[in-house]
Amino acid sequence: MPTIADLLKRAQVLDPVSDTPRLDVEVLLCHVLDKPRNYLYAWPEYVLEQQALTQFKYLFARRIAGEPIAHLSGQKEFWSLSLDVNASTLIPRPETELLVETALNLFNESKIDNSKFDSAIQVLDLGTGTGAIALALASERPNWNVLAVDSSADAVKLAESNRTRLDFDNVQIDQSDWFENVNADRRFDLIVSNPPYIAPDDRHLSEGDVRFEPRSALVANDAGFADIETIILNASEFLVRGGWLLLEHGSEQGEGVRELLKAHLDDVTTWRDVAGLERVSGGRVPIGEV
Ligand SMILES: C[S@@+](CC[C@H](N)C(=O)[O-])C[C@H]1O[C@@H](n2cnc3c(N)ncnc32)[C@H](O)[C@@H]1O
Repeated sequence: MPTIADLLKRAQVLDPVSDTPRLDVEVLLCHVLDKPRNYLYAWPEYVLEQQALTQFKYLFARRIAGEPIAHLSGQKEFWSLSLDVNASTLIPRPETELLVETALNLFNESKIDNSKFDSAIQVLDLGTGTGAIALALASERPNWNVLAVDSSADAVKLAESNRTRLDFDNVQIDQSDWFENVNADRRFDLIVSNPPYIAPDDRHLSEGDVRFEPRSALVANDAGFADIETIILNASEFLVRGGWLLLEHGSEQGEGVRELLKAHLDDVTTWRDVAGLERVSGGRVPIGEV
């Protein structure tokens, strides 16, 4: 029977499908052994029991076939949270942390209103998926009230289960086709969204992890702009004066998103990710507008 060290040596088999083969094997071993990563280094000579070995081989074979490591372990780290993930929605991406950071900074810098920092502001997360953005914001600002919606019933179930497990009572998860089921009388200080924004004919859709994620979480018509446009068109109706809309978008969509934003909102700005790529754009309702 193989030891932990023996199985770690098999990582190179994953070279053709993964940029992080060693890490992938570590994640799978931690998952089947139900142990933290340092256990693998403390006990390299540990011999796996038959049941754990069978499970490891099954998951390893699925990884060789290209399935995302997060689907195999059922978990993904986002912000400081460990989120359950499944095939109903997007696996949270590190790039999306820029959206969370930007939202927190905007209110920190008091660009809307000094009195609103750390007060009970109202936030709407459109297309919440696992709940990643909503739960990250709620974890940083316990006083914020976050409504998070998704059109997928399975995604709503997943986000709700993450919310319950992580015990955030300042987040509510509902099913809605964008704003459709959001109470028309509600007004938000901040609307955030990482909507589908990949063009239907984008070649990346047939590569890597995205092959295993639902198209409903990835793809939007009109070269990827359809959902972004729907959100921008409707957002001001649901924002308070001075309220911000922040959207994640593709690295080459910045100019198009700014054009759409400028038709409805002021102070249109784009933020770049760590790779220097345009990743988040936003604007706010003019302070003087009724
Ligand atoms: C790119 S994923 C983002 C998920 C999550 N917010 C994140 O950043 O990891 C887009 C999400 O939008 C949801 N979605 C797609 N169309 C929608 C619609 N018409 N109304 C609400 N949500 C929608 C998808 O189900 C998916 O969960």
